[in-house]
Amino acid sequence: MSATGVKIAAVGRYAPERIVTNADFEKTLETSDEWIVTRTGMKRRHYAAPEQATSDLAIAAARDALSRTNLTAQDIDCFIVATATPDYPFPATACIVASALGAIDKPAFDIEIACSGFIYGLTVGSSLVRAGVYRRVMLIGAETLSKITNQKDRGTAILFGDGAGAVILEASETDSFLSSELGSDGMKPELLQVAIGGSRRAADAAALDAGEQFIRMEGREVFKFAVTKMIDATDVALRKANLEKGDLDFLIPHQANRRIIDAAAKYLEMPPEKVLVNIEEYGNTSAASIPLALSEALDAGRIKDGDTIVFVGFGGGLSWGAVCWKWVA
Ligand code: ACO
Repeated sequence: MSATGVKIAAVGRYAPERIVTNADFEKTLETSDEWIVTRTGMKRRHYAAPEQATSDLAIAAARDALSRTNLTAQDIDCFIVATATPDYPFPATACIVASALGAIDKPAFDIEIACSGFIYGLTVGSSLVRAGVYRRVMLIGAETLSKITNQKDRGTAILFGDGAGAVILEASETDSFLSSELGSDGMKPELLQVAIGGSRRAADAAALDAGEQFIRMEGREVFKFAVTKMIDATDVALRKANLEKGDLDFLIPHQANRRIIDAAAKYLEMPPEKVLVNIEEYGNTSAASIPLALSEALDAGRIKDGDTIVFVGFGGGLSWGAVCWKWVA
């Protein structure tokens, strides 16, 4: 084992075909396009087809990432899927993804820390590469949140969408990983959770009748926490990397609410062109939102060699994290 640097060698993405617009929600809920756009910045989200599971989205994003390289799945040494919507409680979705891609006998595991999943996964995957344990790690953020969203609850139905983003982390002489700041507070899991189906409470008939299989959220509480933690985590990650706000070229935040992103960007003195936002098109795709935004920005030619980026997210747990990254082309 030898210590090395890490870089992102390729990024891919996938979003299901079906698009659900604010106008669609106007037909089924007491809501309006105007309310949704003003309060969240969202206009559309992509929904998986009934037969599509999270692994299907993850596989498509991973194939897209691989197609941008000369690599095959066999060249990847380890697969990590960050998701709050796994195919099953077990086995891990990553095992299904690795085998479907044609990777034989490779290590594969999931990270379940809701919307912070990509940030945690980037820290873990990069550390495995930097420690010399693996030369290449495929990290995929993938979600089918539409399947755990209560379509009768206007407070949550409009927020969530489905998608996947995949990054190939690879050993590199120039190190992209500058710092990481992760955190959690599990004192109030009920602020944002799916309450049944685990070992605490069974998914029995009464719970299902009450709709407890769906995401439950205290929106206002989560909102306040999100702004504070996005700012704090970014500040600490920058400090750990010996950088200041002015050194940042891009902020790539978890896409939960346009107003949360704008409030954090304002404090961080980031002009709009340096903050990557695609919430209009996808809504909140949890662990997939950051790699989706990264993938689109790269395709648009916005990110250049040497750019300094902070990836920052928060979510259920409660949990949060930021990674400071130097882009290596
Ligand atoms: N359409 C119309 N009215 C609505 C809707 C809707 N879709 N949803 C809520 N309202 C109403 C409420 O009922 C309330 O009405 P009332 O005043 O008569 O009680 C009013 O609008 C205001 O409600 P608030 O909850 O205060 O609205 P707010 O401005 O806070 O926006 C929102 C709600 C969008 C949910 C916001 O709180 C938010 O984005 N919170 C954070 C969400 C988040 O980041 N989640 C992260 C999930 S990450 C993960 O791990 C899955």
